Amino acid sequence: MARRILAAGNWKMNMTPAEAAAFINDNKAAFASDDVDVLFCVPAIDLPAALAAAEGTNINIGAENMYFEEKGAFTGEIAPGMLDDLGVKFVIIGHSERREYFAETDEIVNKKVLKALEHGICPVMCCGESLTQREQGVTQEWVRQQVKIGLLGVDADAVKKVVIAYEPIWAIGTGVTATSDQAEEVCGWIRALLVELYGADVAEEVRVLYGGSVNGGNAAELFAKPNIDGGLVGGASLKPSFADIIHYNK
Ligand code: PGA
Repeated sequence: MARRILAAGNWKMNMTPAEAAAFINDNKAAFASDDVDVLFCVPAIDLPAALAAAEGTNINIGAENMYFEEKGAFTGEIAPGMLDDLGVKFVIIGHSERREYFAETDEIVNKKVLKALEHGICPVMCCGESLTQREQGVTQEWVRQQVKIGLLGVDADAVKKVVIAYEPIWAIGTGVTATSDQAEEVCGWIRALLVELYGADVAEEVRVLYGGSVNGGNAAELFAKPNIDGGLVGGASLKPSFADIIHYNK
């Protein structure tokens, strides 16, 4: 079965609930697609408004983060059951901004991935190297380690629900996109690791996205690569022209 392209937005810390609802309502016709899956991962406080606005459309709404405990004394955190209760089906885990500013480690990412899956929520698990690591020539080792640790304890059935997003840190929010060959090379390494861990049939079913300055102008070339199954999009997901990414092949 061919993997469906996923155009996923990551709003980060942008948009109020009212802005979220207006953005989705104003653009839902332009974001409609029969052959591309559409997802906006939004700030937790926007989730109810975004879910309500997206109801009856093809737009999926996800969260940007989640904690790995069920409940308790974790001030400020969002429990998986809270997302579940709202009907949230996707959550970004281990974005490089979470790793950099909120000290998330591969072990924390792994706990969150396992917990999301336990709740039937698809984790969009992020990985990617810094510019220094790329220059040092350790990109492959680094990304393999992030993905391998992130997926510890995830069995072959569950991994099919995981989306992996390769996002080189040097390409995020910088306007510098990895070339489609650079992006394909690393996404191919991730696919090869999945083959090692789960076998070829399972690896064929897992979606691997590229993220880092994706826009309407470069999506077609990136998404045409055999191991790139869509994009995780920051800045360009806040604009109506996100439709150009969804309709990259038109
Ligand atoms: P960007 O962000 O598209 O603005 O580079 C991507 C991301 O951080 O997911």
